[in-house]
Amino acid sequence: MRLALLSLPFAAALASAMPFWGYQQKVKESIHGPPSGWYKHAPAPKHHMLELKIALPQPKFPELEQHLREVSDPSHARYGAHLSKQETEALMAPHPETLAVVRKWLALHGLAEEDVIQSPAKDWVTIRVPVGLAEVMLTTDYHVYKHAQTGESIIRTMSYSLPEILHDHVDLIQPTTMFARFKAFKSTLHWTNHVQPADSSLSGSTITGPAGNQVDARCNNTITVSCLRQLYNAVDYKTSATNDNALGITGYLNESTNDVDLQQFYQVQNPSAYGSNYTSLSVHGGKNNQSYEAAGLEANLDTQFSFGLTWPTPGTFYSTRGEPPFDSDLLTASDTNEPYSYWLEYVLSQVKIPQSISTSYGDDEQSVPQSYATRICNGMAALGARGVSVMFSSGDGGVGDGVAIADEPLGHQCYSNDELKTPKFLPVFPASCPYVTAVGGTVNIPETAASFSGGGFSNYFPRPSYQDDAVSAYLATLAPGTYEGLYNSTGRAYPDVSSQAASFSVVYQGQVTLLDGTSCAAPAFTAFVSMLNDARLSAGKTALGFLNPFLYSVGYTALNDITEGRNPGCQTEGFNAAVGWDPVTGYGTPNFGKLKDLVLAM
Ligand SMILES: *[C@@H]1O[C@H](CO)[C@@H](O)[C@H](O)[C@H]1NC(C)=O
Ligand SMILES: *[C@@H]1O[C@H](CO)[C@@H](O)[C@H](O)[C@H]1NC(C)=O
Ligand SMILES: *[C@@H]1O[C@H](CO)[C@@H](O)[C@H](O)[C@H]1NC(C)=O
Ligand SMILES: *[C@@H]1O[C@H](CO)[C@@H](O)[C@H](O)[C@H]1NC(C)=O
Ligand SMILES: *[C@@H]1O[C@H](CO)[C@@H](O)[C@H](O)[C@H]1NC(C)=O
Repeated sequence: MRLALLSLPFAAALASAMPFWGYQQKVKESIHGPPSGWYKHAPAPKHHMLELKIALPQPKFPELEQHLREVSDPSHARYGAHLSKQETEALMAPHPETLAVVRKWLALHGLAEEDVIQSPAKDWVTIRVPVGLAEVMLTTDYHVYKHAQTGESIIRTMSYSLPEILHDHVDLIQPTTMFARFKAFKSTLHWTNHVQPADSSLSGSTITGPAGNQVDARCNNTITVSCLRQLYNAVDYKTSATNDNALGITGYLNESTNDVDLQQFYQVQNPSAYGSNYTSLSVHGGKNNQSYEAAGLEANLDTQFSFGLTWPTPGTFYSTRGEPPFDSDLLTASDTNEPYSYWLEYVLSQVKIPQSISTSYGDDEQSVPQSYATRICNGMAALGARGVSVMFSSGDGGVGDGVAIADEPLGHQCYSNDELKTPKFLPVFPASCPYVTAVGGTVNIPETAASFSGGGFSNYFPRPSYQDDAVSAYLATLAPGTYEGLYNSTGRAYPDVSSQAASFSVVYQGQVTLLDGTSCAAPAFTAFVSMLNDARLSAGKTALGFLNPFLYSVGYTALNDITEGRNPGCQTEGFNAAVGWDPVTGYGTPNFGKLKDLVLAM
C-alpha cells in the first residue's frame, strides 16, 4: 500500500487531473437507509483498511448464457459440450477499454499495478485502501453501523459516487451499501444434544418409502446415510468413477469440518469409508481448524452426509474466509464479510472443478444489492457452463421469517427495506438465482413439505424460460388475488427440488446430534447428483452440469412429487405443496434408480 497517496503531491495531481475526468461525480448506487436492525454509530476510522471489490461489466455474458442454455438442454445437439476455463474466461472478460479506463482511475489515486489484484477473467478488481482514500475515490463518508440486537459492527455507507465516465465501466463496488448477513441454513432451533431414544419397537419393521420399496421404519424418526439410500432408491449403487468424479462442499463463517467427528460418523453410518480422507482447501484465508471446539455444526453436517453417501467419490471442502459482522477492534479487524465472490474467483480459476457442489448458506435477497446478486449469479452461470451442478439450500424461513428462524423476532421482518416498508415475502439469495438448483425440505414418510422449507419468487431475477410451464401451471391453481403484492409472480421461482431435511443424525464434538433445516437437504440432494455424474462418467458420458433445464424438461418424471404441506411465514400460511411443481418442494425428491436410467439414456 503506498501511503504517499494522501500526501500533498498527490492532492495536487488529483486537482490537475480533475479536468480530465470532469468534476462530475455521479451517484453510482445508494440505499434509503440501513436495513432494519442497523443504526449509524460513528464515523469510520480513516485508517481502517477496506478490501474493495470492483466488478467490471461482462459485455459477452449474453453469449455465455447462450452457451449455458445449449449445453444444459438435453434436447440440444450441444448437450454436454461444456466450456473450458479459457473459453469461459473469455466470455466473462471486460472490454479492454474498460480495463484501461479503470486502471487510469486507480493510478490517479496512487494505486499502482502491483496494488491491484485481478481475477483470472479480469472481471473483478480487488484493492486494499484505507477508509480515508475510499471516501475520496467514491465521494462518500463511511460510518460504523451497529446492530441493535446483536451489537455487531460493520463499516458501510448509504451511497457512493464515481466519475461519470466510469459509470459504464464499473458494475459495482463493495463493501459500500451491502448489509447482508450470510447465515447457515441449519436450524439450531431444533438442534438437540440428546440422541432420540431409538424406538426399539420399530427395529426390524419396515414401511413403504417414496419409491414404493420397503424401508427401515426407523427412518421415519432419524435420517442416516442408509435411510437416504433406501428412501431415494440407491441402495445397491456403488460409485466407481473415482479418477474423474468429485463432490464439493463450501464452508463459510469459519466453519470447520472436524476430522475426528467425520471418522466417528463413518464408523457408525458407512464403515467402508472409515479411514478415508478428503481434500481441504482454504480460500482467502479460510480456516479448517481441527481443534474439537472449532468444529462447525454446518460443516460437519454437510461433509458427513455428502461424503458418507458418495464414498469413495473424492470429496473437497472449501473453507472461505468471510466473517459475519463482528464486534471487535475496528482498527485491526477486516469486515469484508461477503464471501461468495472470493469463492467464485477461486473455484473458477481451477482447471478441474468438482462436478457437484453444495452450499447451505444464504440471506434475504433484498439485503444483497441487486447489482451484487447479479454478478454472483453470473458466476454460478459460469460454473454451469463449465459443467458443474451447483446446489443451494432454499432457506429455513418458509416464505420469509418463518418459524425456524431462531435468532430473529417473529413477524417483524417481512417488509421491503426501502422507505416504503411494503409488506412482502422475503425470497432468499442465492437460491433465487436462476442458474443454481435450489433444494427445499421434506419430512416424514410418506414425505410432506417441511414447514420451514424456503420457497417463493425472486424480486431480482425474472422467471427463466425453463420453468415457464411449471410455474404458470402452479400459479393457475391459486385463487385469484392470493397473496397479491406479497410475492412477484414474474420472478424466478424456487425451490427446484427437495430432499429430506429433518432429524439428520450428525456427529458433533463426539456426540450424536439431530439437525433440521434445508442445510440437510442440499448436501443430501447433491450426493445423489454426484452419483448420477458417477454413472454418466463411468459410461463415458459428460457430467450433467447445470441441472435445471434437464429437471424441468424430463428429470421431473423421476422425482417423487410432494403434494402435502405448506411453508408458513410472514404471518401467513405460505404456499402449498401441490401436484407437479410448487414453491415449497419444487418438483420433489429424487428417485435415483429412475434418474439414473434417464441420464444414461441422454
Ligand atoms: C474467525 O476466525 C478469525 C481468525 O481466527 C477470528 O478473528 C474471527 O473472530 C472468527 N470469526 C468467527 C465468527 O468466529
Ligand atoms: C488428510 O488430508 C489432509 C490435507 O487435506 C492432510 O493434512 C492429512 O494428513 C490427511 N490425513 C490422512 C489420514 O491422510
Ligand atoms: C482453533 O480453535 C481453537 C478453539 O476455538 C482456538 O483456541 C485456536 O486458537 C484456533 N486455532 C487457530 C489456528 O485459529
Ligand atoms: C411417520 O411419522 C409421522 C409423524 O410422526 C406419522 O404421521 C406417519 O404416520 C409415520 N409414517 C408411517 C408410515 O408410519
Ligand atoms: C418483479 O420481478 C420483475 C422480474 O424480475 C422485476 O423486474 C420487478 O422489479 C419485480 N417487482 C418488484 C416489486 O420487486
